Amino acid sequence: MTLGKFITFEGIDGAGKSTHIAFVADLLKERGKSVVMTREPGGTPLGEKLRELLLHEKMHLETEALLMFAARREHLAQVIEPALARGDWVISDRFTDASFAYQGGGRKLDFDKLEALEKWVHPKLQPDLTLLFDVPLDVARARLDATRALDKFEQEKADFFAATRDAYLRRAAQYSQRFRVIDSTMPMEAVRDVVRGIVCDL
Ligand code: TYD
Repeated sequence: MTLGKFITFEGIDGAGKSTHIAFVADLLKERGKSVVMTREPGGTPLGEKLRELLLHEKMHLETEALLMFAARREHLAQVIEPALARGDWVISDRFTDASFAYQGGGRKLDFDKLEALEKWVHPKLQPDLTLLFDVPLDVARARLDATRALDKFEQEKADFFAATRDAYLRRAAQYSQRFRVIDSTMPMEAVRDVVRGIVCDL
């Protein structure tokens, strides 16, 4: 039986999701929850090695999708499923919705293939809540340029991010029960208030 809750954070690069993850972890801890914070690709020693490859090596788009799901399989087995079974709350910086957005939307990999992988790797599990931080491309790009050296995905062009954002929004419409789309152009404090309201409602 699954006792804990699974919360995922999504959005195109530069949408500002990372800023709010620690905030949600603290909020849940204040409410007495035992919290596991993790990320994808990554979250396990093997997954972090795959992350290095995924973020820096050029590869065929199907190889990329398969490695994302391989890392995810390990992540589920080693971290997510045991934590939920213990009754912990898992908050993950990205999960399968990112594969639909980036590999499906951005890279145009057939959605049927991604759906097959999703069914294979986690036929039953879905997040209880997915926070989608949504911003127009120019805002995301300005935030990214202000930060640091860009990885393979972050170096993609505007049309890649337009398709990625679009795929996220379509996924949010398809799974509207678990998704909350947050207007991340608002000032950080305002976004934080919205996030607090959503999480406290869970
Ligand atoms: P990101 O989560 O943005 O981390 P950081 O804030 O350290 O840059 O980076 C992960 C990248 O991996 C991001 O560009 C999206 C990409 N990604 C996919 O393409 N598919 C996936 O399934 C996942 C989980 C991530």
